[in-house]
Amino acid sequence: MAIKTIIEPFRIKTVEPIRKTTRKQREALLEEAGYNLFLVPAEYILIDLLTDSGTNAMSTEQWAAMMRGDESYAGSPSFTRFRDAVQSIFGFRHVIPTHQGRAAERILFTVMCKKGDVVPNNTHFDTTRANCEFVGAEAVDLPVPEALAPASPHPFKGNLDTARLRELIARVGRERIPLVMLTLTNNSGGGQPVSMANIREVKQICREQGIPLYLDACRFAENAYFIKLREPGYAHKTPREIAREMFSYADGCTMSAKKDGLANIGGFLCTNDDALAQQEKDLLILTEGFPTYGGLAGRDLEAIAVGLNEALDEEYLHYRIVSTAYLGEHIAREGVPIVQPPGGHAIYIDARAFLPHIPPSQFPGVALAAELYREGGVRSVEIGTLMFGEHATMDLVRLAIPRRVYTQSHIDYVVEVVLEVWNRREQVRGLELTYQAPFLRHFTARFRPAEAAGPAGPASAS
Ligand code: F0G
Repeated sequence: MAIKTIIEPFRIKTVEPIRKTTRKQREALLEEAGYNLFLVPAEYILIDLLTDSGTNAMSTEQWAAMMRGDESYAGSPSFTRFRDAVQSIFGFRHVIPTHQGRAAERILFTVMCKKGDVVPNNTHFDTTRANCEFVGAEAVDLPVPEALAPASPHPFKGNLDTARLRELIARVGRERIPLVMLTLTNNSGGGQPVSMANIREVKQICREQGIPLYLDACRFAENAYFIKLREPGYAHKTPREIAREMFSYADGCTMSAKKDGLANIGGFLCTNDDALAQQEKDLLILTEGFPTYGGLAGRDLEAIAVGLNEALDEEYLHYRIVSTAYLGEHIAREGVPIVQPPGGHAIYIDARAFLPHIPPSQFPGVALAAELYREGGVRSVEIGTLMFGEHATMDLVRLAIPRRVYTQSHIDYVVEVVLEVWNRREQVRGLELTYQAPFLRHFTARFRPAEAAGPAGPASAS
């Protein structure tokens, strides 16, 4: 009989202690941080599920490659290895290194967009939206309707609604749309994948209209693995073959290597367009660095070159997808409302359904995240009204799983913490803002407990 237990496909060579705090300490820390977990020092976090970005554990091969890092200002062989690794998977003609994903976004939008332009996407991530709007363009989200119903399972909830894309192009005119983007996987929409069929269909529309298609490729390996598992015709292909097909439909991409690059820092911008690449490199020199390092150390380029390949390893991807789903399934079976099916890099709790007595104006997602910290020192992040303001269609709390970092017993602990809060959910109170920045306000906003439950709340019920 085949062994059924799925184990972490690695053993631990370096350990990093994590420290417990008391509930009293956490309550004081929450108050000091204005109930915003971005403002709690990391040493007071026990299990940190704030993000899967840059929190990856590197492999022995990555650490070994880092020692080979060549720190030459120009023409470093580390850049050659980085570029070759990227090209062998992504296939684009130009590879421009950046210090992280948002730097690639800023350069892309500065070069391709102007005031009055419109950029469609399945769902823009917060930095993508902010960089798009910063150059005066409008960021339009076109998710499929299934994406907005957290509880309904659908294999490719990350898909872009192609009927709405056609409508948008007809309404605003092709000349106002400098590019179409697809975010793989759709982070703000629950870490849900985009199907190959959808990528192909979006490409077809773009081709008819002469509009370039760019992929936000942060979690390309997880997306490729979901295609393998769920899309007919792909079961026998390798994640690498699937990734190559995904990229073959695109004219370029932005990438944060802090996700599926399995690195702690880094990113890149790719394009097949020679003229655009020239402008992008000129801008790169102004703010990031020479085109053979782009704001990264040679050793960072080496870590990414190895990490991109490790992220496509099938055994790793199997463990990754199964272990994320493990958390989702163990809380969902006790009734906790989550975005179904579980995403690739994170589980998203539907905070509006978890805390129906707290109206969106009192930030149910922020309140729930604060409560998970108070209960067990677990840090998560709100993706909802605080992050997106009036664009928010859901209030989600994301439990993002750093790659290769936590073991199953850590996750069992998180399950227990979530269920403790679930069992006393009626006592959780809403929050009101006391400070907000003019953009990307979620990083620095501060709150205090709301005076009373909002108009929709049950607090006044007999
Ligand atoms: N696009 C997506 C889909 C992302 O998830 C992120 C980052 C970026 C772009 C920007 O990349 O951080 O390297 O500048 N997401 C992180 C997160 C921050 O927590 O989901 P970056």
